[in-house]
Amino acid sequence: MRIVDLIEKKRDGGTHSRDELETLVGGYVRGDVPDYQMAAWLMAVCWRGMPPDEAAMLTRVMAASGEQLDLSVIGKPVADKHSTGGVGDKTSLVVMPLVAACGVPVGKMSGRSLGFTGGTVDKLESFPGIRLDLDAAAFVSQLRDIGLVITGQSADLAPADGKLYALRDVTATVPSLPLIASSIMSKKLAAGADVIVLDVKTGSGAFMRERDSARALAQAMIDIGEAAGRRVAAVVSDMSQPLGRAVGNALEIAEALDTLEGHGPPEFADFALELATMIVELASSGGAGRVEVEEALGSGAALQAFRRMIEAQGGDTAAFDDRSHLPSASLRRSIASDADGFVARLDALTVAHASSILGAGRERKGDPIDLAVGVVLQARVGDRVAGGQPLAVLHANDEARLDQAERVLRDAISLSPSAVEPRPVILERLLRSSADKPRFGT
Ligand code: URA
Repeated sequence: MRIVDLIEKKRDGGTHSRDELETLVGGYVRGDVPDYQMAAWLMAVCWRGMPPDEAAMLTRVMAASGEQLDLSVIGKPVADKHSTGGVGDKTSLVVMPLVAACGVPVGKMSGRSLGFTGGTVDKLESFPGIRLDLDAAAFVSQLRDIGLVITGQSADLAPADGKLYALRDVTATVPSLPLIASSIMSKKLAAGADVIVLDVKTGSGAFMRERDSARALAQAMIDIGEAAGRRVAAVVSDMSQPLGRAVGNALEIAEALDTLEGHGPPEFADFALELATMIVELASSGGAGRVEVEEALGSGAALQAFRRMIEAQGGDTAAFDDRSHLPSASLRRSIASDADGFVARLDALTVAHASSILGAGRERKGDPIDLAVGVVLQARVGDRVAGGQPLAVLHANDEARLDQAERVLRDAISLSPSAVEPRPVILERLLRSSADKPRFGT
């Protein structure tokens, strides 16, 4: 089979067989297919799309390109959660302990994030000493022993994705729905969970800006997961404003702990409870999940589950009792409203930009992150504020960055003289695969 024929087939809108996809992907991982041919094929996929069955096949071929975890030793359905990433998104740190406390084992491998704030794994580094490079054996044994584990993405899982993503990044072939869906789901399938809940964000601070694209991605991933025999559900959630109040790594850990203690921001706590409910109900095929999840929160069981996980991974848990053990910034500045009004806009992307100026995120792989810095919002869209009232507090370690971040943050916020109705956090729920499956486009 000649690679040029496969490129030609996709260029002309054809559909590949499993053998053809294995030849392409396997050949690329082994180094037999050169970058220029793979780049041409990826661009053809961008233009031509893929039918759902072909995208599902591609995903399985990518998942099979490396180690695939067998979680059958756990003896019950294991859950995983994935977010497409957003500003202030510390949801996994609350949802996973809630789910574990309901008796559903939950394990997640999480990538380090590029972009404005750190990913889940970066945030967890706020606990000194924590190990986030567990190998497959340690991942499975912690899942069996305490039912909760979060670690960095293993390079051994779906190595085809790592290689393909690096090529897509430099060949303008990232924004293709089947390629994004297969990239995300190949890692999820290889990590072995039976139940997968996806949080696809939409809005200025999200990868998928438009709601329609977010819904299409969510649906594509559900279809792929179900074709591989997994139970999958998704939400499309709002990322036009940050999630919760805290944006920045250690600040988000503090907010996650507050939420697990029962005094987090109400809209964030409710979102986490809803996602946890979806997971528990999918795992048990039952419908009383919300009561169970609220009980796990109210009794402190979820907080204890999170503590056990941090301890099991060698992290210092002093911050559970005293937040001053978290990394903390030397400078704080409160940003006050200069007028009376209602918060009409609190732009997620601009808040993220302010946070990144302070040093909370990274632009290039391997860049250092300042865990202590970020933004804590004091208001949300729809809130009424008076002139002089604080809108946000900036946490910084550098005066010049603080000045610059303040200027940017002020641009993130607009007031309206009349009342504003905020958007709900969950915009849509997608609970099963689409009956009629259109071709996945770009
Ligand atoms: N995240 C991924 O893991 N893959 C993509 O292709 C895009 C976002």
